[in-house]
Amino acid sequence: MMSTFTVNNPATGEELQEVIVSSNEEVLAALKAGHTAFKTWSKVNAHKRSALLSKWADLVRAHREEIGELITRENGKPLAEGLGEVDYAVSYIDWYAEEAKRIYGRTIPGHQESKRLTVIKQPIGQVAAITPWNFPAAMMTRKAAPALAAGCTFIVKPAEETPLTTIRLIELAHEAGIPKDVVQCVNGDGPRIGKLFTDSPYVRKITFTGSTPVGKELLRNCADTLKHATMELGGHAPLIVAEDADLDLAVQQTINAKFRNAGQTCVCPNRLLVQDSVVDKFTEKFVEAVKHLKVGNGLDQDVTVGPIINKKGFDKIVNQLEDAVSKGADIACGNEYDYNDEKGYYFIQPTVVVDVNDTMKIMQEETFGPVAPITRFHTLEEAVEIANGTPYGLAAYFFTESYKTGVYLSENLEFGIVGWNDGAPSGAHIPFGGMKESGIGREGGLEGIEPYLETKYISTNI
Ligand code: SIN
Repeated sequence: MMSTFTVNNPATGEELQEVIVSSNEEVLAALKAGHTAFKTWSKVNAHKRSALLSKWADLVRAHREEIGELITRENGKPLAEGLGEVDYAVSYIDWYAEEAKRIYGRTIPGHQESKRLTVIKQPIGQVAAITPWNFPAAMMTRKAAPALAAGCTFIVKPAEETPLTTIRLIELAHEAGIPKDVVQCVNGDGPRIGKLFTDSPYVRKITFTGSTPVGKELLRNCADTLKHATMELGGHAPLIVAEDADLDLAVQQTINAKFRNAGQTCVCPNRLLVQDSVVDKFTEKFVEAVKHLKVGNGLDQDVTVGPIINKKGFDKIVNQLEDAVSKGADIACGNEYDYNDEKGYYFIQPTVVVDVNDTMKIMQEETFGPVAPITRFHTLEEAVEIANGTPYGLAAYFFTESYKTGVYLSENLEFGIVGWNDGAPSGAHIPFGGMKESGIGREGGLEGIEPYLETKYISTNI
């Protein structure tokens, strides 16, 4: 019997759609089809692949409103962010449509007169992706576009919370003329489908965005068949405000970075570290700005912060807040909840927590919610030590008007992405990814296509 799962609107709990669960047989058949399709797709010339990707991008652009609204309905983010995500998602397709034409090899001077040495780049094979619910469009295109541009075939399993956006984007890819077996989508539970992906001899690469524990499990499972892997995992971003910072700029950028997608991004600042001489002034300005944020259904006008994706996410945030308060932290604003277990919606008022310390979970774990804990530091060296004192290393931010301080912080923060006076460093043209337990590899930019290519060296003795 065919089984299904229900996709709900996290802002209301309303059922949006039933999605068919892909059976093991269906997933295996799709993997085989993707493997077979690789033989022809990898031989399609780069200009043709580029044109097909551009057509896909045009179709997504033409459906911007529809897809933006779909993102808001299944993920909850405000409509302006849903539409922004469509633009962000398309920018990856545009970028890699161009990069398809710039996959260069090289020649190496030979060590014997008769030898001609060449290096060529070839697509790695079929790529299997597992994508998250927080950016259902952009995290998919960030993987699919470079894979297809390189000449790989691509299969994706989207998060069960938000599969509808992916299903629609894949339909548009087929409408653009990308063959059905070249870009495919399967649906269902992550552990089962993830294992089918990692066990399959037809998959040469796994690309995953999600939590660090799941990423580690996937990596372990990749070992038997030695698959390539790109892992974009959890974060615990510090945001440092130095005493010479432009405080208004710092507040405005921190608001954008922290409360985007209700704080449910891997790169959102999770710990605000403010130099003690400006901590009171910064906190006052920041709390005032936070109070202006409007929580609600992302489809309602003026709403700037949507719901938490599900009960699990909500419980984790509430637990961190309770833990912080029980250990002496103070709530400067927020910490109010509107939730309904029966209907299945969970809202948290943007919250600022002060007087936090390192014994609190909120300073140790990723929060993934609209909560900003503020702690103080005295010297820049101390700030760097606190900032780096985590197994995570995805994104870090700092605010300073001093070039010397900026260079010191840029060079000493152990994070893959650093925003200097900038709370929005993401983009299709930059290498996105983390150090330490935040991941392996980079997505986007020049670096983002390389993981989909094999390097072949040819020695010709003429
Ligand atoms: C993420 O949260 O992993 C993605 C955020 C971004 O691309 O800016």
